[in-house]
Amino acid sequence: MSLAVAFDNIEKQFGPVRVLHGVSFDLAPGRIYGLIGENGAGKSTLMKILAGYERPSGGTVSIDGVVKAFTTSRDAEAAGIVLIHQELNLADHLSIVQNMFLGHERRRGLFLDEPAMREAARTRLADVGLHKHPDTRVRDLIVAEKQLVEIAKAMLRDARLLIMDEPTATLTPAETQRLFALMARLKEDGVTIVYISHKLDEVERVTDEVIVMRDGRFVTRGLTAETTRQQMANLMVGREVSDMFPDKPVLADETRVAFKVDNAYVPGWAQNVSFSVRAGEVFGFAGLVGAGRTELFEALIGLRPRTAGRIELDGENINPRNPRAAMEHGITYLSEDRKGRGLHVDMALKDNLTMMTLERYAHPLLDAQAERDALKKAVGDFGIRTGNLASRARMLSGGNQQKLALAKFLHPDPRVIVLDEPTRGVDVGAKRDIYFLIHALAAEGRAVIVISSELIELIGLCHRVAVMRGGQLVATLGPGHLTEERLIAHATGTH
Ligand SMILES: Nc1ncnc2c1ncn2[C@@H]1O[C@H](COP(=O)(O)OP(=O)(O)OP(=O)(O)O)[C@@H](O)[C@H]1O
Ligand SMILES: [Mg+2]
Repeated sequence: MSLAVAFDNIEKQFGPVRVLHGVSFDLAPGRIYGLIGENGAGKSTLMKILAGYERPSGGTVSIDGVVKAFTTSRDAEAAGIVLIHQELNLADHLSIVQNMFLGHERRRGLFLDEPAMREAARTRLADVGLHKHPDTRVRDLIVAEKQLVEIAKAMLRDARLLIMDEPTATLTPAETQRLFALMARLKEDGVTIVYISHKLDEVERVTDEVIVMRDGRFVTRGLTAETTRQQMANLMVGREVSDMFPDKPVLADETRVAFKVDNAYVPGWAQNVSFSVRAGEVFGFAGLVGAGRTELFEALIGLRPRTAGRIELDGENINPRNPRAAMEHGITYLSEDRKGRGLHVDMALKDNLTMMTLERYAHPLLDAQAERDALKKAVGDFGIRTGNLASRARMLSGGNQQKLALAKFLHPDPRVIVLDEPTRGVDVGAKRDIYFLIHALAAEGRAVIVISSELIELIGLCHRVAVMRGGQLVATLGPGHLTEERLIAHATGTH
């Protein structure tokens, strides 16, 4: 049942860019390993090699002492190695059950055995805590639900080695808890697990051992019980990481409201939501998955229907019909679904950056040099790590895609900024950079709204935090009242 892995001097190059430089380490069977490292360190690439999605440019992978060169993920799956992708990989137009069995359909005679597939899907969905009918289209799921489908799908494959690439990035504490219980069961069954995460508190909780990578190299490993979170952060970054949160900026004028929403109503998602955000304020939104936060803001910028409500920007009534109109008013919304709505992953970095502000670069012909200069500046300002400025967004590591999305949405220079899960998948060092950036934006007098599932982040960043539950804004907590316990109590309705 158990399975041991040895990486020996693994190299990987994408064209001229070397991303893995002779990585060697091994994994003993039946343990849970935390694989940590900064954005772009090479974690996902190394695991894709193990799971047959990429081929190494040099070096070997051995499984139970035998050198294996998987050419497809199917080969690796046949050997019991299953990867849950960081960037969700589902076919949107297919149903949950079709996605789960894609390429592994069960048949009875000539026909698909749909009842059997549906039944198996239902069991696995229950295991991960997703209570949706297996025939629901994936397109109709929210990001966290898609993540749970990915996990349930992997569970069908009877893995002996399971690689989870940031599986909890979109999950809330309750779902994360359930996932950890599932991991404990798998471990008891002898499954080896590689757990990649930037949430170091989770790495501390669930792993037996941590392995640190930096700049495409293996740095060190150690027992989790003997490594503090601070040590993990320092090892990842290669220096001392201090004070994650800057001091909250002082509001220039406590009474100046920049953005006001009255009685917003979003069919199926939000009722009677009212709040106001002052100029220079960082205003948070907490809540469980499905509480309606994302849908509320999608409706406010015209991405989905809103049947009632009044929006005021600097005292002026506005009614944006689509995101572009919202942006012209000076409101920008960075989606939590960066692959679906944030970035065009098959386009070049520079085209992503300037897409929303093309008029600045067209006089009337596109000034490609100015676009390239803007990209160079953004890469510097946001610390985007890329070996090649001409590459496509798809080639950036997950965290670096997030930084590019931020750069893109802030490029139009908005007055009201809504950031939905702005640090999802971002490493500790870059997280701190984003926190400082958010405070700098607020200090310039903008209103910044942060939707986040990380309570520590909301508490550290925001002046006030609104809590949504079941489509209603149930509480707004300000200075002196911002604690994890209170936020959880309001979010779950147990206060
Ligand atoms: N197909 C590709 N073409 C070119 N470069 C690539 C490709 N895939 C990955 N890279 C580069 O390889 C490096 C390592 O990326 P990888 O995705 O392995 O990082 P990671 O450690 O998983 O980071 P993160 O924490 O952000 O997910 C990055 O610099 C990335 O830009
Ligand atoms: Mg990755």
